Amino acid sequence: MRTQIVIIGGGPSGMLLGQLLARAGIDAVVLERKTREYVLGRIRAGVLERGLVNLLEQAGVGARMKAEGFVHDGTLIAYDNDMFRVDFAALTGQTVLVYGQTEVTRDLYGAREAIGGDTRFEVDGVVIHDAGTESPFVTYEQHGAQHRIDCDFVAGCDGFHGVSRKTIPVSVRSEFEKVYPFGWLGILSETPPVNDELIYANSDRGFALCSMRNAALSRYYIQCDTGDDPVRWSDDAFWDELRRRIPPQAAEALVTGPSIEKSIAPLRSFVTEPMRWGRLFLCGDAAHIVPPTGAKGLNTAASDVHYLYQGLHQFYGEGDPEGIDRYSERALARVWKAERFSWWFSTLMHHYPGQSAFDKKMQLAELAFLRSSPEAQAAMAQNYVGLPY
Ligand code: APR
Ligand code: PHB
Repeated sequence: MRTQIVIIGGGPSGMLLGQLLARAGIDAVVLERKTREYVLGRIRAGVLERGLVNLLEQAGVGARMKAEGFVHDGTLIAYDNDMFRVDFAALTGQTVLVYGQTEVTRDLYGAREAIGGDTRFEVDGVVIHDAGTESPFVTYEQHGAQHRIDCDFVAGCDGFHGVSRKTIPVSVRSEFEKVYPFGWLGILSETPPVNDELIYANSDRGFALCSMRNAALSRYYIQCDTGDDPVRWSDDAFWDELRRRIPPQAAEALVTGPSIEKSIAPLRSFVTEPMRWGRLFLCGDAAHIVPPTGAKGLNTAASDVHYLYQGLHQFYGEGDPEGIDRYSERALARVWKAERFSWWFSTLMHHYPGQSAFDKKMQLAELAFLRSSPEAQAAMAQNYVGLPY
């Protein structure tokens, strides 16, 4: 068979791109390795920048997000047993929307099904052929049968462990990576959030984050060792450790309950360049990874999708390749700024194994400066709410 775009990966990147293309009359087939249920079972951060909110509305999936999402005007930063607030709205005129990534993906799946979009699940052995030519094609297996799809372009939206990035010859690719010496142990609990806004905490015992999905569903994280195991952490042990890492006024307000999900995520910064090779484009986690501290993973995937959609729309609509030719340059310019912010915030907020007393003093001095300087807070707020596309 033939289509215009083969999208590899049915996560947020692939599904958002597919939806935008469909609304512009550009055909795409989505190939997803897992089942629909598996994809929608993933628990991930849900702090949406204005740019992503706009894209989702443009894709026609903004209704539930606007009805159920929580507008956050700011966030709390805790250190030295106290907290201060960074007021996004006052400093930037912008806010963020708290709405789970799982719900974003669920809305995108619903929209694609409603238009009869071609999404193929449980595909195996995806191979991208002739991406360096003007006649790429993709082969894959599904339920024991071999398939081939000829196309104009391939969008590699298959995440960090996908095949797309590795299709680009090693001689062409440059990779940049930083692996952090700690992870995040996260739990989901059917309890009211400890605060209306997020609390990012730097403590001598390590980082902690108090977040939420809705008024009855809370999401908490504590920094843990890279080799740690969620099974080693009882709920009580988690709650006790979280209380030790947040200021007393928050610890006293904390409502605890049984965890309904408990997992550990490693922290990594990663970028591959270029994000285009011939007729293959990389989007989202296929091209870059950020530590979750700045909540930039989904939001940076969104700006990739924006640039790629604009380029494909320009190509098919006007026969002008300018947008796709500049895709990698444009996407990477914003990716690196998101990488910087995520690295800066992670370095500021975590306790590094073997950290010297001087290093700790540097963290506390930077936090004290951030607390005292409206300009420093404005710089942080601009990055947190999202830099322009
Ligand atoms: N063939 C088909 N599908 C694949 C393959 C493959 N070889 N490899 C991976 N996939 C699928 C995965 O099952 C997943 O559903 O590609 C999808 C990639 O989705 P994500 O990993 O969520 O990446 P992306 O869509 O770019 O979304 C980025 O997800 O991981 C978070 O923090 C990240 O919030 C960010 C967002
Ligand atoms: C989350 O709610 O899961 C979350 C929020 C903000 C972050 C990371 C994770 O920076």
